[in-house]
Amino acid sequence: MRNVPAMRNPFRYGEVVRGDRFGGRERERQELMADILNGQNVVVISPRRFGKTSLVLEVLADIADSVPSAYVDLLRVPSVEHLPSALATEFARLLSPGDRMIDRVRRLFDDLALRPKFGVDEAGRPTVEFEPGASAADIGLTLDGLFQLPGRIAERRKTRVAVVFDEFQSVVDLDTGLPARMRAIFQLQADVAHVFLGSRRHVIERLFTGENEPMFRMAKVFPLGPIPADEFGPFIHGRFVSTKSPISAEAVERILSITGGHPHDTQELCYFTWAETSANGIYPIPPTAVDRALDRVLDAENARYGALWDRLAVSQRSLLVALSRESDAGVYEAKFRRRHRLGEPTSVARAAGRLVDLEVIAPVPGPGAVYRIVDTFLPAWLRRLMAPMGDR
Ligand SMILES: Nc1ncnc2c1ncn2[C@@H]1O[C@H](COP(=O)(O)OP(=O)(O)OP(=O)(O)O)[C@@H](O)[C@H]1O
Ligand SMILES: [Mg+2]
Repeated sequence: MRNVPAMRNPFRYGEVVRGDRFGGRERERQELMADILNGQNVVVISPRRFGKTSLVLEVLADIADSVPSAYVDLLRVPSVEHLPSALATEFARLLSPGDRMIDRVRRLFDDLALRPKFGVDEAGRPTVEFEPGASAADIGLTLDGLFQLPGRIAERRKTRVAVVFDEFQSVVDLDTGLPARMRAIFQLQADVAHVFLGSRRHVIERLFTGENEPMFRMAKVFPLGPIPADEFGPFIHGRFVSTKSPISAEAVERILSITGGHPHDTQELCYFTWAETSANGIYPIPPTAVDRALDRVLDAENARYGALWDRLAVSQRSLLVALSRESDAGVYEAKFRRRHRLGEPTSVARAAGRLVDLEVIAPVPGPGAVYRIVDTFLPAWLRRLMAPMGDR
């Protein structure tokens, strides 16, 4: 019989993390909680996979007793015709358990332009659906009515309520007129804290901070950064210890120096480090185990990086390899271009522009044309790709 390992990997990446899988962010948690309790609208902005959804769901759970909440993931709404049903079903959950009886829910949705159909899901919660094929005008009127519901429910329950719109950048893909429609109603709802989450920084920032944009000054901007080492370090250490796999301080440092505290990528590297040592463990886990785990991460991500590499032109590849070896030099400097055989500044500029558009590299604020590779593990993958065969 095969030996089944007694312990489960304590790290998770790629899905929302809750409870003891969620680490650090104490300050953000307190601040966001205070904002919601005050009815303050907030827009949480970060790159992908920084933990926006996890943070907001943790905070909503913390205050669930005093603040009812609705959560709408706009990425799961394929078109504006689907939006009324998605909103109505979520908003029905703002009702007190006593009000969730079908006829009471029905009364709340009585004066909408479209007729809803009521049901109950597997968990016994009410669901609301609208017939397909409605006209754009009726959908618009119904949305206006629905956007008002959280305010009405807050009044009826004499409490603050929270409404979360996740993946808010998708709102403009659904209908460019939606933000203006939302603003007209949301700005009158003093007892509703609207929380918007978004990852396409320029789209979201433009929506909320552009002077001529409909959501201008609608919400407090709440940027979410990496998790600092003094918070992530103890969390990582604790997770290893909880599965009786002590890890050295040097190994934790090594993990964080590779990932820079990027939440998803740190959990991924920890996951592989744990798996690596549970198979052939030396304890406390040394930094060399992290290096082996990094190799396994690069194997796992090989197809994704390979597909990216295939799409790039030769000049873009050369610039990327140069940046994987030397990340703090100005890319137009003659010495840098010579060292990495990059050719003329105009061709470097074209390659850099294209890589920025693809979000593969990003300019580093400050003097000089300095760029960094966005993806945590891509520099290591490029260095491995370029290494002589014998070194691999
Ligand atoms: N506070 C945290 N502690 C530990 N790991 C975290 C934390 N927050 C996020 N992570 C890690 O990051 C991953 C992504 O988290 P989450 O889905 O919440 O991020 P997101 O910003 O909403 O991502 P997306 O842009 O894809 O919606 C999680 O699977 C987990 O591995
Ligand atoms: Mg998310």
